[in-house]
Amino acid sequence: MNIRAIKGIKDVLPGTVEIWQWIEGETRKRLEDYGFSEIKIPIFEITELFTRGIGETTDIVEKEMYTFEDRDGKKITLRPEGTASVVRAYIEHRLFDGNPLAKLYYIGPMFRHERPQAGRLRQFYQIGAEMLGSQAPLVDVELLALLNDLFSSLEIPTLALEINTVGCETCRPNFKKALQGFLRDFITVLCLNCQRRIDTNPLRVLDCKEEGCRKITKSAPSIQSYLCPSCKPHFNTVLDGLSHLEISYQINPRLVRGLDYYTKTAFEFTSTSLGAQNAVAAGGRYDGLVQTLGGPETPGIGFALGMERLVSLVKKEKISPTSLSCFIAVLGEKAQKTALSIATQLRTNGFRVEMEHQNTSLKSQMRRANKLGARYVVILGEDELQRGKVTLRNMGNKEQNEIEIKDLSAILAKES
Ligand code: HAM
Repeated sequence: MNIRAIKGIKDVLPGTVEIWQWIEGETRKRLEDYGFSEIKIPIFEITELFTRGIGETTDIVEKEMYTFEDRDGKKITLRPEGTASVVRAYIEHRLFDGNPLAKLYYIGPMFRHERPQAGRLRQFYQIGAEMLGSQAPLVDVELLALLNDLFSSLEIPTLALEINTVGCETCRPNFKKALQGFLRDFITVLCLNCQRRIDTNPLRVLDCKEEGCRKITKSAPSIQSYLCPSCKPHFNTVLDGLSHLEISYQINPRLVRGLDYYTKTAFEFTSTSLGAQNAVAAGGRYDGLVQTLGGPETPGIGFALGMERLVSLVKKEKISPTSLSCFIAVLGEKAQKTALSIATQLRTNGFRVEMEHQNTSLKSQMRRANKLGARYVVILGEDELQRGKVTLRNMGNKEQNEIEIKDLSAILAKES
């Protein structure tokens, strides 16, 4: 039997990998424009980092982590997310020393043993960013502006920003108590998972997808009525900042997030064209996490975007980051060497170029150029070669002209 990749774990093949590279390049650029530096964090960590950081009663820790003992009997977990590792590194390397606001980003695979379905994988890639050191609500706004900018530079038009506040250690316990009281009255009609969550993690009942549970929680108490004097103005200032930057948002009181470290602002960018797994990027504030993991009291906020979901949106919107500047069609063996020099010269000048190496018909070379999405085809025949000329065909409007080889770069640069 042939060996196949494990369920929920995917290869990224040429044709798609170019979209990944483009998104990664644009995102790196955007993050660096906003003052972030990359941090490379390990793929696996001591299990306790995640149980303590993400929370014992979360789905991730209860049922989704890839945990095993290594050969020394140490309990190890493949990272299910990046925030806990960044915070661990921040504390371990004292990145707070002399640095009031650390801005770090990471790119790489995460692992969760979830039920695989469209948009939900067991190994998936995230680009994440964390800002550590400021509790100013405008930092939240800046982070959301960054994501908003990024999605517009990727020309993804259909994302909605959903936002909520989940309160803090001061106000959340009162809200939790009120919510538990409300839910207990309906315990027999809630799904089994939510019945269990009433005691362990009642906020998660609010984002249960079961119709029965959703009906009940429609009239559940709202956190807005329980916010403390720190959380309430924080949320209002964030909303105000978004309006000031003309970033549209929807308040979603059901948005509670599946990781326990969140405080105050929580958000998701969702798409209507992705089906059930509709969050493309998500995150929020975690003002207690650094302390929980043994560091000094330090507020933080961050997000992670899911590469596979973003790539699938780019494909759906038919955005093509990969089109070829030109394809060099070669007629006759003598033209091959000149074609190679032209291709090298154009590549040196920054164009994406592909050329024909086989002596096939012009028709089949044009078909290949079309398939590769070439904007121009440079046709190089032996007659033209003797005159130092090529034919340049615009694949969009089908116009073609004979031009001097030496003018090719300048003409392509003018046209692109
Ligand atoms: P998260 O909501 O668990 O947050 O994941 C963030 C994004 O990763 C999701 O919105 C989604 O696009 C993608 N994602 C999550 N699980 C899967 C999966 N099984 N398959 C495919 N894509 C997936 C976090 O991970 C937090 N660490 C985000 C954060 C950073 N909060 C503060 N800082």
